Amino acid sequence: MFLFGAATSSHQVEGGNHDNWSEWEEKTAEKKAESAKERKWPDYIRDMYPSPLSRENYVSGISADHYHRYEEDFDIARSLGHNAHRFSIAWSRIEPKEGKFDEKEIRHYRDVIAALRARGMEPFVTLWHWAIPVWFAEKGEWESPECVRYFSRFVKKVVSELGDDVHFWITLNEPEIYTSLSYLLGNWPPQRRSLAAYLRVLHNLIRAHKSAYEIIKKKYPNAEVGIAKNNIDFEAMGGKIMNRFLKFLGDWWWNSYFLDRISRHQDFIGLNHYFHSGINYGFEKNEKKVISDVGWEIHPESIYPVLKDLTRYEKPIYVTENGVADARDIYRESLIRETLKWVKKAKREGVDVRGYFHWSLLDNFEWADGYWPRFGLVAVDYKTLERHIRPSAFAFKKIIEKWEDS
Ligand code: BGC
Repeated sequence: MFLFGAATSSHQVEGGNHDNWSEWEEKTAEKKAESAKERKWPDYIRDMYPSPLSRENYVSGISADHYHRYEEDFDIARSLGHNAHRFSIAWSRIEPKEGKFDEKEIRHYRDVIAALRARGMEPFVTLWHWAIPVWFAEKGEWESPECVRYFSRFVKKVVSELGDDVHFWITLNEPEIYTSLSYLLGNWPPQRRSLAAYLRVLHNLIRAHKSAYEIIKKKYPNAEVGIAKNNIDFEAMGGKIMNRFLKFLGDWWWNSYFLDRISRHQDFIGLNHYFHSGINYGFEKNEKKVISDVGWEIHPESIYPVLKDLTRYEKPIYVTENGVADARDIYRESLIRETLKWVKKAKREGVDVRGYFHWSLLDNFEWADGYWPRFGLVAVDYKTLERHIRPSAFAFKKIIEKWEDS
């Protein structure tokens, strides 16, 4: 059976998280709101609550309060035809102090998993979706020589407590995005700008994944373990040698390097897909005819070459994220429809793709941009925390109902 669902991550929807991100938000929110004033915003974004011009937009705070409302949210997902759901476990809740595990929080995630199972939805559990405990950040996080040991201890605990009820594990979310933004470009905490640190962290994440894989498989040999990998459709324009060379570089470094290193330590490939990059003596030279609220090109056909390319690994593939920031819900339906058309084409041609998770179930806290980018199938009114199902979510439901697994 093909799996259909949506994805979320703990820091982005739960509310009340205390981690390296929440601390960084407190420090930077004021400044971000100030510099947002220099930018020209369309009215429908500027007039949102919270407005990108306000400090509240940049502090995750209570977020969508999914921590307390997950049952209601899963009822909605189920009513929309979802038979699977991807979410992440907040390391900072499970291990708020080094080596001290919080049993109450473990119970929370056990209840979350049970709530999914009770609704006939298959859980896909992410172990690390970017936010980390403050103590781990203070120890130098993924740069620390001890990082794999710290992460493994957390994974061991989670797996021993929750492993009976989980079949699909995603160890890491998008390692390249995180390392680039946090260690190379300095945009995200810990705001480092160092090529050496970037490479070190990337390699530590490779080791962290392998270790987590081994921990899970040792206890649960039948469990399926992978990562959520952000692959881009690099398109060499005009057949020029230089462009083909740059495409080779992009494919090698961005799309393949990490996966090649862990290829014997994964049972499936989780694909997060958002980007198409036209190459013409440089990256991102494509026209970007249609763009989302955050300026990203909407180009659903690009999932097809990316899926085809992944067949090299001879592993099942799950699309673990794909979505669009679209507060007016004018592009989401066609993005889903078109993307799934290309997924189906790839599948008919023999690509072993087994599921699609839309990003996201709910509007949520979009990292450094805060609340204004609206990615949800379900809109969240941040004043009342009421949920409003967007029309595209019903369209997605119809597509699910009509899907034939051929
Ligand atoms: C991340 C999500 C994020 C989404 C939209 C993905 O790269 O895994 O956390 O919200 O993209 O930017």
